Amino acid sequence: MNSNINRLVSIAGKETRTIIGLMSGTSLDGLDVALCQVSDSGLQTKLELKQFCTVAYNDTFKTQVKEIFSKRNIDLEQLCLLNEHIGLTHASMINDCLKRWNVTSADIDLIASHGQTIYHAPSSLHKQKGFTNATLQIGDADHIAVNTGIITISDFRQKHIAAGGEGAPLAVYGDHILFGTTGEARILLNIGGISNLTYLPANRDFAKVTCSDIGPGNTLMDAFVQKHFPGKHFDKNAEIATTGSCNNSLLQALKENSFFDTTLPKTTGPELFNLQYIETALKKSGTEKLPVQDILHSLTKFTADSITDIVKKYWADKTDLKIYCSGGGMHNPLLMQYISQQLPGTFISTTRELGIDPDAKEAVLFAILANESICGNPELFSSANKNTPAVCMGKISFFS
Ligand SMILES: Nc1ncnc2c1ncn2[C@@H]1O[C@H](COP(=O)(O)OP(=O)(O)OP(=O)(O)O)[C@@H](O)[C@H]1O
Ligand SMILES: [Mg+2]
Repeated sequence: MNSNINRLVSIAGKETRTIIGLMSGTSLDGLDVALCQVSDSGLQTKLELKQFCTVAYNDTFKTQVKEIFSKRNIDLEQLCLLNEHIGLTHASMINDCLKRWNVTSADIDLIASHGQTIYHAPSSLHKQKGFTNATLQIGDADHIAVNTGIITISDFRQKHIAAGGEGAPLAVYGDHILFGTTGEARILLNIGGISNLTYLPANRDFAKVTCSDIGPGNTLMDAFVQKHFPGKHFDKNAEIATTGSCNNSLLQALKENSFFDTTLPKTTGPELFNLQYIETALKKSGTEKLPVQDILHSLTKFTADSITDIVKKYWADKTDLKIYCSGGGMHNPLLMQYISQQLPGTFISTTRELGIDPDAKEAVLFAILANESICGNPELFSSANKNTPAVCMGKISFFS
């Protein structure tokens, strides 16, 4: 037998595994690296976050990825080169983190690599007859495994699609395992590039769990800031938006899209929520001449409303519901103020209250998925609803 298989079996048999979860989302801010100790699997999983770091991407890297990111027409050679380049870049970022943390590759059992999404195309978006849901993450995991000396599990989204899902959001599996509980109904709200939520009922019944993308997270605000304020990546602490005000005509125009009429669960991406989306709404509402501060403020309000409208529509009757936030959007005070205002009386906090650093949460969830790939039983998810097929996901890359 190939000794790698033996190695994998012995990792699966360990009482506690050390797993590095990686996340690089649509915001392209950096690579989230979460070093976790994980024992057991399924609903018995115990996870301790030992180290966490977001390694920022430099401008050259961001520009290179943006050349192909969520674009329909790209240079195929660039795509091919970036697949290797992103894998190598991530490997070197992990090696730097290990050095900083005084940990060696021999101390790590697995890496769980999400890769970089470059296109997300559920059939509701691409609408091409004869083609299924599709999504593409690059940053080859063989390169990560060979260059770190750590077995790497990657490309989680393809199994989800193969089994009938849309490839997103995958947060539902880890949210159910880590944050599901009896006696408290929860919403785990992640405000990354796109915002998504998982509703966890108070009885831990997976059949009643709902997980869906719900609209733009930071993506519209970020794209607008990057266009109008060269050198800035995002509106830090809403410093620009707070100097403007919300324009209601623009807000209404932003809300007019069939995405908001479709029922949950659904997925989306910057393929829909992009600069073109803003341009269309500005034209429709005749607000092209508004000061940029007002436009950005309106985008912030629109982002908040797209989150709170869904919570009100689906869970208005759940008066004891608790919302736990994660993702970069929770650092935007104006966005969070609007979310609180629209949901008066609702408990809103962050996953820190549940023991997980909210900036690390998405990367932690991939460590959970990798743990399930090796030790889990897909039957845990067998009462799954439409977009939660009962599968353990990921492909395995050995380093030798
Ligand atoms: N202090 C802050 N003020 C305002 N916005 C912030 C702040 N810090 C972070 N952000 C926002 O958060 C974004 C990064 O969020 P995050 O890393 O969760 O998203 P992501 O990488 O796209 O991940 P995901 O896959 O979860 O969407 C930044 O691009 C920025 O818009
Ligand atoms: Mg990020």
